[in-house]
Amino acid sequence: MTVADQHWDPDRYRKNAGFVAELGMPVVDLLAPRPGERILDLGCGDGALTRKLAALGCDVVGADASADQIRKAREEGLYAQVVDGQNLTFDAEFDAVFTNAALHWMKDAAAVVAGVRRALKPGGRFVGEFGGAGNVQTLRTALRVAVAARGVDPDAADPWYFPTTEAYSAILKNAGFVVKSIELIDRPTPLPGDVDGWLAVFGESFLNRIDASDRPAAIDQIREALRPVLTDTDGVWVADYVRLRFSAELPQ
Ligand code: BEZ
Repeated sequence: MTVADQHWDPDRYRKNAGFVAELGMPVVDLLAPRPGERILDLGCGDGALTRKLAALGCDVVGADASADQIRKAREEGLYAQVVDGQNLTFDAEFDAVFTNAALHWMKDAAAVVAGVRRALKPGGRFVGEFGGAGNVQTLRTALRVAVAARGVDPDAADPWYFPTTEAYSAILKNAGFVVKSIELIDRPTPLPGDVDGWLAVFGESFLNRIDASDRPAAIDQIREALRPVLTDTDGVWVADYVRLRFSAELPQ
């Protein structure tokens, strides 16, 4: 990794972001997997939902760009490969492609969707959820302001793609999918600790661009600026998540 990139420590991820997989179960329900189906779990992370699909009797392949997360998934007995989601090379071999909380890290959405299309058999399904327009807007703005104040270009630091339903529908349709459902869902999400854990797991692309000696002060500033906005009356941190949930199909 380069110094500014995001990297994934499976133990840190599970501690600070275990809720991501727990909240992904409605997407599994939307997929309605059938035993024996061959399914690609795109952006599987440590495989928490891959395991659920396998337990339902599916033949699942986990795919993720992080070698550390794939090692963790394999240690847990899953079949998983390091794969760049923007350069998928599978060929007409899956009944469905499932994805949870991963597509917002892949800015070239058209390349992802084209690769998914190639990976699917005729009639195959593409079902998933990721950050939609307005996702983590408060956190994102605070991070962008913090880096800009230190002379860093916020656009270069910002790793996320959070489309509207209209924009994502257009990408799906252009690739030949029929969109069955697509919606934005406001989902304020309580965090397991304070915002520092969230920033450590998800904010690296911003924070690593700040000089290491200034980083603790920057994090203090971000936390204290966000505290009045993102904590509830009990002091629990609640992230301003917005999900884009969709289901699409290829013609037979
Ligand atoms: C998300 O799951 O929507 C998300 C998580 C971390 C950073 C950005 C988006």
